[in-house]
Amino acid sequence: MRQSRKLEHIKYALELADGPLPTGLSDIRLVHNAIPELNLEDVELHVQVFERSLEAPLLINAITGGNPGVLEINRLLARAACAAGVGMAVGSQTGALLDPELAGSFAVVRQENPAGLVIANVGAMVSPALALQAVEMVEANALQVHLNVAQELAMAEGDREFRGALENIAKLVETSPVPVIVKEVGFGVSGEAAKVLQGLGVTWIDIGGAGGTNFVSIEHRRKTVSPVPEDWGIPSAASLAEVTAMCPGCNIIASGGLRTPQDAVKSLAIGASLVGIAGLWLKILLQQSYTDLVAELDSFKAGLRCLMLLLGARTVPELRRVPLVIAGSTGEWLRQRGVETGQWSRR
Ligand SMILES: Cc1cc2nc3c(=O)[nH]c(=O)nc-3n(C[C@H](O)[C@H](O)[C@H](O)COP(=O)(O)O)c2cc1C
Repeated sequence: MRQSRKLEHIKYALELADGPLPTGLSDIRLVHNAIPELNLEDVELHVQVFERSLEAPLLINAITGGNPGVLEINRLLARAACAAGVGMAVGSQTGALLDPELAGSFAVVRQENPAGLVIANVGAMVSPALALQAVEMVEANALQVHLNVAQELAMAEGDREFRGALENIAKLVETSPVPVIVKEVGFGVSGEAAKVLQGLGVTWIDIGGAGGTNFVSIEHRRKTVSPVPEDWGIPSAASLAEVTAMCPGCNIIASGGLRTPQDAVKSLAIGASLVGIAGLWLKILLQQSYTDLVAELDSFKAGLRCLMLLLGARTVPELRRVPLVIAGSTGEWLRQRGVETGQWSRR
């Protein structure tokens, strides 16, 4: 059942468009710097993260594994991540923890990228012993723990019991040999939820906001009848700004509908340390080609470099000092949520 679901998720992710909620990133306006005093070649995209050096602060986010039919997808995604010098997270390893024969479609990611950033992925209820096996399966540099309550509720065969996740996440943080990233899969993390996680010792949060791949829509396509509305969730821009403002000290991965270098630069300027993209890059690989995916990653990096120059930011951390304006419904959301937007517009 789980194995065939993996293939259906890919099939419908390819067929469906992003949304229906917008990410809100178009509400964010970066302030152009007419006198950047930089040459294009001065701009430095490199970041050091999870004890790995990346050519750019980008991550191919968790997609798949756990079915022999997806081994080739993971091989090519990992090869592209290696070629472009970006990180990669594997999809949920739960199935392979129960049936070790499925481990090969995950292990291939490390084989293709021996020195790169590889991130393991488990659910929030997985035991510390199994989480350790997931880390070992891909020799991971970090462990994603995914939160997907809305998706489970939308699935006819999904979980209905979520109590105990916090206690388990605290145990995972305590026992994991690598840093734990708590990650939403497309419905966003609120500032309050992020604070609770931070209180448990979580130092990395992937806000996985709404506006991109939508697992409620995917489940509805699988002909499950569910009361979860397709416009559920916190749009990525609002989630990212909330968590940045309410959780100082937390490291943030921005994801959920980010599609362009401008989306990435806006997210890094608001407060993210890394940008994760899943749906778009999966579509390019499967609907176009591996070569197109590598070209996309290269042109994405060129786009980041160009926009950083236009903002006068020589390095990725310097983006955190450039001013930006948050207008529209994201600005209104933040105002009503008590988040002072002057921290970005007047810095
Ligand atoms: C086909 C597919 C399968 C996915 N499977 C997982 C998964 O197993 N674990 C997980 O944490 N996220 C999974 N995701 C969610 C992505 O990592 C990401 O959080 C989400 O798609 C939003 O990003 P996007 O809009 O760039 O696609 C999956 C996404 C896709 C498209």
